[in-house]
Amino acid sequence: MKAIVYTKYGPPDVLELKEVEKPAPRDDEVLIRIHAASLNAADWYLLRADPFLVRLMVGGLRKPKYKILGADIAGRVEAVGRNVKKFQPGDEVFGDIARCGWGGFAEYVSACENALVLKPASMTFEEAAAVPIAAVTALQGLRDKGHIQPGQKVLINGASGGVGTFAVQIAKSFGAQVTAVCSTGKMEMARSIGADQVIDYTKEDFTQNGQRYDLILAANGYHPILDYKRALSPMGIYVMTGGSMAQMFQAMLLGPWISMTGSKKMGALATESNLKDLVFIKELFEAGKVKPVIDRRYPLSEVAEAFRYLEEGHASGKIVITLENNNKKGDKK
Ligand SMILES: NC(=O)c1ccc[n+]([C@@H]2O[C@H](COP(=O)([O-])OP(=O)(O)OC[C@H]3O[C@@H](n4cnc5c(N)ncnc54)[C@H](OP(=O)(O)O)[C@@H]3O)[C@@H](O)[C@H]2O)c1
Repeated sequence: MKAIVYTKYGPPDVLELKEVEKPAPRDDEVLIRIHAASLNAADWYLLRADPFLVRLMVGGLRKPKYKILGADIAGRVEAVGRNVKKFQPGDEVFGDIARCGWGGFAEYVSACENALVLKPASMTFEEAAAVPIAAVTALQGLRDKGHIQPGQKVLINGASGGVGTFAVQIAKSFGAQVTAVCSTGKMEMARSIGADQVIDYTKEDFTQNGQRYDLILAANGYHPILDYKRALSPMGIYVMTGGSMAQMFQAMLLGPWISMTGSKKMGALATESNLKDLVFIKELFEAGKVKPVIDRRYPLSEVAEAFRYLEEGHASGKIVITLENNNKKGDKK
């Protein structure tokens, strides 16, 4: 099968399209013919081993432990291991396979069955591949850490990216009044996915305009944590899911102290991939409340190009890899 392989950390140039052995499913695994995959910042961290800690926590100290990146996938089950109970050949599935060894930028992957859910017929493979990490991050940030409530004023900074486009829609589905922060060219898109107000960060600094929010989800961009604190209502909650390293350290180190010493709660989210939340998002999709926003699609041979675009940091929604050969085999959706 064809796969995008890398054997040393580095820029997207280290990625090579190669012919490799098709995997065989172990007893608790499902062999999936991949129709689409999507890129996440986590792929990029593992590609470059940046931050360095990634080598110790996931990737391998000297060289990549996982030779094929790609966590978010959607495809069709081709074969199942003998202990697999939930799936059978022909099922259309999607999920985040990072905890079962990555491998999504390839024509086939063997993944553990407990990372996968059935894809709704109304969801395309590309939409399904766009969902797992970004949507679950947005959900956990808003619901679990942010304790979102109907009628609350919720602000999403970085509203036009992978996490942000899900966050706007999920916050709306919880009945919040949503303010999206993005650049000029993305304002219309932010309105189209349900934002009640849109702030153009190139023209206005939301931390300085006197408005107060019950919940702020920081999905991208940078503001000092004390600016975020000022923009919170007295009992407000700030959840950092992404952004600059400085922002992450401030949320992790200062957040708990600010939370202990006052009424505002501030902290960072580490997403925990789980099936329950993926099913929750799937149900929001089926109810018409969430629709993945796909910016660009690339063929497997152009994964490096897709990474270069991701690295620019200005995608409108998700970047998807489409497995052209597999989609030609009679069941493109
Ligand atoms: N906590 C976790 O476990 C977890 C899980 C997943 C992702 N993340 C993190 O979440 C972050 C975002 O991920 P993503 O997939 O959403 O990234 P992404 O899709 O690459 O984000 C791109 C978006 O960020 C916006 N942006 C860039 N600079 C901005 C600024 N100064 N202010 C506001 N928006 C800005 C861009 O909008 P414009 O083009 O309009 O500037 C673009 O739409 C990453 O840092 C990632 O590491 C964390």
